[in-house]
Amino acid sequence: MAVSRDMRAVVSSLPSVAVAVAAEGGSIAIPKYLDDVYWWAYVHPNAVRVFERQWLVNLILWGNFSRLRDAALDALGEPISGRTLQIACVYGDLTARLLERVSGHLDVVDVLPVQLRNLRVKLPADAAVTLLQRNSVALGMPDGTYDQALLFFLLHEQPESVRRATLAEAVRVVRPGGRIVMVDYHRPNAWSPFSWLFGPLLRRLEPFAMDLWRDEIASWLPADFTPSAIDKQTCFGGLYQKVVVTV
Ligand SMILES: C[S@@+](CC[C@H](N)C(=O)[O-])C[C@H]1O[C@@H](n2cnc3c(N)ncnc32)[C@H](O)[C@@H]1O
Repeated sequence: MAVSRDMRAVVSSLPSVAVAVAAEGGSIAIPKYLDDVYWWAYVHPNAVRVFERQWLVNLILWGNFSRLRDAALDALGEPISGRTLQIACVYGDLTARLLERVSGHLDVVDVLPVQLRNLRVKLPADAAVTLLQRNSVALGMPDGTYDQALLFFLLHEQPESVRRATLAEAVRVVRPGGRIVMVDYHRPNAWSPFSWLFGPLLRRLEPFAMDLWRDEIASWLPADFTPSAIDKQTCFGGLYQKVVVTV
């Protein structure tokens, strides 16, 4: 199997945590939208140095990071048993806190090796976690592999076609009866100053995020999938939502 230089670096820097490249034949291409729109936040080598600060991610979420993180973790359970999948790395301590609750095994996927390397150094060396370079649109695991999956502020960064494919993969790899927990942006209530203050900034920096102001996450689930249950809650004047889909 050909392994890219980046992934060799990941493998050699992770003695205690299993890391796997995505596919036979090499690592995965960076999706175009990440390179075009989010190079400054995730792709550029300095991005991690700038953004990997708990106070900064908290500021970006208007002081709501802990609240949203804990809402996601509570929706997954305490303890979180079985196999858990986190789709995409997150700056801050989300994964470390998730690991504290996981009584089974955790897999974390991300398409960028630099993000996986950054996550590794934030986790205990003996943690029951596997970091995998995967594109969320082609996870590669068998159907029904996981008991639950978490997507934390991923969907608003993806163009609609990618978002649909990501959700289809999440539905596919979570077993019937398992849960998909999603936390992301949402349209603020009309009275909220965020509806007119934050909209223009978000539109400029995160062009796909407005989709989540317009449409329900459920509207991007596969047409041939009928969830056993969907629970949606909003907070902070409606700016954020937590959606739990039971497969
Ligand atoms: C979860 S999102 C945003 C989270 C949040 N803004 C934070 O504090 O980090 C960011 C991550 O998603 C990853 N990502 C974006 N598109 C992806 C895809 N198609 N497949 C896998 N990971 C992806 C990026 O590489 C990045 O590490």
